[in-house]
Amino acid sequence: MTQERGSGGLSAALAALSTVETLETFGRVTAIRGLLVEVAGPVSAMRLGGRIDVVVEGGGAATSTATVPCEVIGFAGDRALAMPFGSLEGVRRGCPALVRDEAAGAIRPSNAWLGRTVDALGRPIDGLGPLAQGPAIYPLRADPPPAHGRRRVGPPLDLGVRCINTFLTMCRGQRMGIFAGSGVGKSVLLSMLARYTAADVAVIGLVGERGREVQEFLQDDLGAEGLARSVVVVATSDEPVLMRRNAAYVTLAIAEYFRDQGAQVLCMIDSITRFAMAQRDIGLAGGEPPTAKGYTPTVFSELPRLLERAGPGVGEGAISGLFTVLVEGDDHNEPVADAVRGILDGHIVMERRIAEQGRYPAINVLRSVSRTMPRSCDPAHLPTVRRARKVLATYSDMEELIRLGAYRAGSSPEVDEAVALMPDLTAFLGQGKEEATSIGEGYARLAAIVGGG
Ligand SMILES: Nc1ncnc2c1ncn2[C@@H]1O[C@H](COP(=O)(O)OP(=O)(O)OP(=O)(O)O)[C@@H](O)[C@H]1O
Ligand SMILES: [Mg+2]
Repeated sequence: MTQERGSGGLSAALAALSTVETLETFGRVTAIRGLLVEVAGPVSAMRLGGRIDVVVEGGGAATSTATVPCEVIGFAGDRALAMPFGSLEGVRRGCPALVRDEAAGAIRPSNAWLGRTVDALGRPIDGLGPLAQGPAIYPLRADPPPAHGRRRVGPPLDLGVRCINTFLTMCRGQRMGIFAGSGVGKSVLLSMLARYTAADVAVIGLVGERGREVQEFLQDDLGAEGLARSVVVVATSDEPVLMRRNAAYVTLAIAEYFRDQGAQVLCMIDSITRFAMAQRDIGLAGGEPPTAKGYTPTVFSELPRLLERAGPGVGEGAISGLFTVLVEGDDHNEPVADAVRGILDGHIVMERRIAEQGRYPAINVLRSVSRTMPRSCDPAHLPTVRRARKVLATYSDMEELIRLGAYRAGSSPEVDEAVALMPDLTAFLGQGKEEATSIGEGYARLAAIVGGG
């Protein structure tokens, strides 16, 4: 058969080509095991961390089709193992699974995101309409900036909470953990820090929170003025495990956007423990072996990958990070707490005992440390801080005896002094929700109590 090869034929062929739909690659759902969806088919076209959309046909109405976005979390034999971002209801064996040529998560933040609340996919959930998208794509799982190109931590960052400002000064680009049991006051402290900090922007990730608490946090704790310069990321405890884990990644990705704009960003995640638990559940579902307390090895490789993304950047902007860690039953050696403590540049310990005495924020200064402190603190203030710490330590040693009435006044001048100064120091360490104290005011007040400085 001969065919005409004129130019007319070529353009006709090109025109025909343009109407051909782009090739779509589909696999098929072969099994669902707990949280996992197994997909068979063109497995070589799928990649770890890539996205697959399971197409649910029919459902209730005959015409409706819905897609359930999933992320590939592993491979086993000739199957891909994927996890859903939404409910698997209606998914059947044989459902087509569209293989998308993109990572499962990327966002395009812009300055218009300030004051807004988004979910773990970067979609607005505050009912305030669509979110303006920025020009640049920020992958959820970015690499930390190269170690050798990073700046060093900057000058102190005023957090507005005097106990931290004076005893545990945080620098721009520093990362600290807040270790506390449940109900000890983490959320209230985070909202105070977001409202009173001198940073330009606060990015707050609420990971695995109770749904009821989210509105309380936004309206009562953070308030309108705090929210105005914040972006809040929410994945409540009832959301799929992938959403809970990715909420932490989205929080960092938004913080990276503002850092790249040259801003000083305060990035807070409440809590890293729930991020670790989500990663553990993903690992277990994918067949990872459980190790310490059921946590899987990827938990301990993902934690540094996440936390290292906070810190100074290569340009002007920096991400100062505050991450809460749940320490149940005062077990500060629990594996996640241990791992986080090793990665960060300091820890703030909150204690139930102090909260029970009615002192908020319930920070135990003596058990907390900021690793940049001796270098970052203005040397003029160091004697004041040392003296105050010594008074606190002396009192803490004798506290039981004093309370039991077994200490006789006059036995030790140091203890007598500590007893005399304690009421003022306790008042200094406590701080109401509606009160802010700058670094300068804080040191002046502390010096007035213990002298020196
Ligand atoms: N600065 C403060 N001033 C007065 N009360 C406070 C302060 N901080 C915390 N509280 C009290 O402690 C309670 C618990 O605080 P918060 O919700 O912040 O704890 P949490 O550690 O986040 O708890 P969970 O682990 O349940 O999330 C608050 O409802 C409030 O009554
Ligand atoms: Mg809380």
